[in-house]
Amino acid sequence: MEDLKKKAAEEAGKQIKDGMIVGIGTGSTVKHLIEYLAQTKPRIVAIPTSKDTEEKLKQAGIKIGNINELIPDIAIDGADEVDPQKNLTKGGGGALTREKVIDYLAKKFIVIVDEDKIVQQLGEKHPLPVEVLPFAYERVRKELEEKFERVVKRDFVTDNGNYILDCHGKIKEPEKLELMLNNIPGEVENGLFTRNVSEVIVGTKEGIKRL
Ligand code: 5RP
Repeated sequence: MEDLKKKAAEEAGKQIKDGMIVGIGTGSTVKHLIEYLAQTKPRIVAIPTSKDTEEKLKQAGIKIGNINELIPDIAIDGADEVDPQKNLTKGGGGALTREKVIDYLAKKFIVIVDEDKIVQQLGEKHPLPVEVLPFAYERVRKELEEKFERVVKRDFVTDNGNYILDCHGKIKEPEKLELMLNNIPGEVENGLFTRNVSEVIVGTKEGIKRL
């Protein structure tokens, strides 16, 4: 799958031009994009979605910008699952909150995945990550357990100092669920991305496909 991730990342990378403000996602697919940027050296300002990505971008010699001062012309990010309506689940790497801020603000949001990430219904293969305040995580967990088959706390602290609860089970009505989860006090953000996706670039064994 690594070669398919790389193909998708490089295809998206071609859309990055000198002078652009570029949101850069997190994960193993995005790692290929950063390697591509290290080789092609476009004169861009990158806005990283995690500390890990920021470190990798700095090592690649890419200038770093701040989301409070700049709006990305384009954001490129991976996903855990993509459904036929281009709804996504994200957050396998635990960076979902910063990713959502940057991906939703971007003028164009491109998703890069390998073909294994394409599903008929979200929740088929991966749980939905929900970032929660440590202060109230048991309270949030109880609410989530009413909505999902199983909720598992990840042994992980996010860049924002919060916990992740992985919610297992197939997802009906992702748009409604995204908003409903954001209404739970103590929930910080969830890994459902149902807005702003411009294009999904899929690396497949037959070549690049687009949704
Ligand atoms: C990180 C993410 C990633 O984009 C998602 O988990 C996909 O990762 P990978 O490219 O390693 O398969 O949302 O929070």
